[in-house]
Amino acid sequence: MITLKVGQARSLRGVLPIPGDKSCSHRALILSALAEGRSQIRGWLEAEDTRRTLEALRHLGVTIAEGAEGTLTVEGHGLGGLQEPADVLDAGNSGTTLRLLAGLLAGQPFCTVLTGDASLRCRPMARVVEPLRQMGAAILGRQGGDLAPLTIQGGGLRAITHASPVASAQVNSAVLLAGLQAAGRTTVIEPVRSRDHTERMLAGFGAKVGVEQTRVWVEGPARLTPMELTVPGDFSAAAFFLVAALVVEGSALTLQNVGINPTRTGLLEILEAMGARVKVRPRPAQGGEPVADLEVEAARLRGITVSGDLVVRAIDEIPVLCVAAALAEGETVIRDARELRVKESDRLATMAAELGRLGARVEELDEGLRIHGGRLRGAVCQSHGDHRVAMALAVAGLAAEGETVIEDAACIATSFPTFPALLAEVAGPGPAARRHGGP
Ligand code: S3P
Repeated sequence: MITLKVGQARSLRGVLPIPGDKSCSHRALILSALAEGRSQIRGWLEAEDTRRTLEALRHLGVTIAEGAEGTLTVEGHGLGGLQEPADVLDAGNSGTTLRLLAGLLAGQPFCTVLTGDASLRCRPMARVVEPLRQMGAAILGRQGGDLAPLTIQGGGLRAITHASPVASAQVNSAVLLAGLQAAGRTTVIEPVRSRDHTERMLAGFGAKVGVEQTRVWVEGPARLTPMELTVPGDFSAAAFFLVAALVVEGSALTLQNVGINPTRTGLLEILEAMGARVKVRPRPAQGGEPVADLEVEAARLRGITVSGDLVVRAIDEIPVLCVAAALAEGETVIRDARELRVKESDRLATMAAELGRLGARVEELDEGLRIHGGRLRGAVCQSHGDHRVAMALAVAGLAAEGETVIEDAACIATSFPTFPALLAEVAGPGPAARRHGGP
């Protein structure tokens, strides 16, 4: 078992290039595979989750060449260019892989079985299966189709208007990918707008796509033109270093080339309301996404209440926000966060339990958390197999007295394999961030 040991850090200093955005990397691969011709993707995130999408597309007959420094060349043969895979497609831990591919495969006239690891096989799939069935795909799965493995016999889709009960970019994207393959206009209406990378990228690939408030639509059948695109740095990866710099006294970090799509940057607004000052230095847009360097210094944070749309725009950053809250002055309340119960772990339960081990007082609410700020002391913690929980606890360890040990830390590689090395680099000489054990 790989454990990550993190000592209390003096100050974090440096300039960090942030690796490619996970959501954009999945989408760039999938849309390139559907385009008619050769696409080139630069700055792709090389991590376990994105590799699951890449390998699944290879099993579907797509040729993908891997070049230096995250460059991929994808030979697309159009919507009709995929072939029935000879085996089950395994999405591993990646919800984005499984749900987006379900949408894509709903339109394909062959049979596929999609599965994942123990965590993914417990996560709700009815949210994508129901609209895809309504469009005409035949889908079977455990619990009436709510749990993977899912068997999809696709083809012959009709366009629908789907009102999604959850704000989820994975649902929205799955239906749009199916909609590319159905004649007419497919519309998704969300309760709150989720991340809009699919819509932006579809427009770049030449699809007819539109957005009106919480409604997004696509016209099918579509023909996608190949693209050369660069994936911006992942705001969700940068988030760990943003909070780390804020909570370790004397720190100053510059995070380079970070995607600042407003559907993703809720954490910036939350941290500013808590007392942080983050300088946002814009750079030229990449792949239809706004990009900036972020400069952050240590600050005294105070507790606030976070709820509503802001939670959706910070959905993957809540674990590390909990760490900021546990070190802030006063109480932080997070509400409207029930989606966190169905992520890679039940993040309300896991963050409450693990911050508790570090000495924080955290109350679990039905759909949120109440966190009393104070000091943390090092302890042995569990990742629960959840990459973002593991990295959030490592950030907590930098500010906690003594040593923090994060057990079962291999899961960090699902989204940010270089995280331990970057952490060691900015924490400077000393005990911070040592990795123990190996496969
Ligand atoms: C993602 C959407 C979000 C997010 C996940 C990535 C995506 O999930 O939590 O990490 O790339 O579409 P939901 O759609 O379930 O909210």
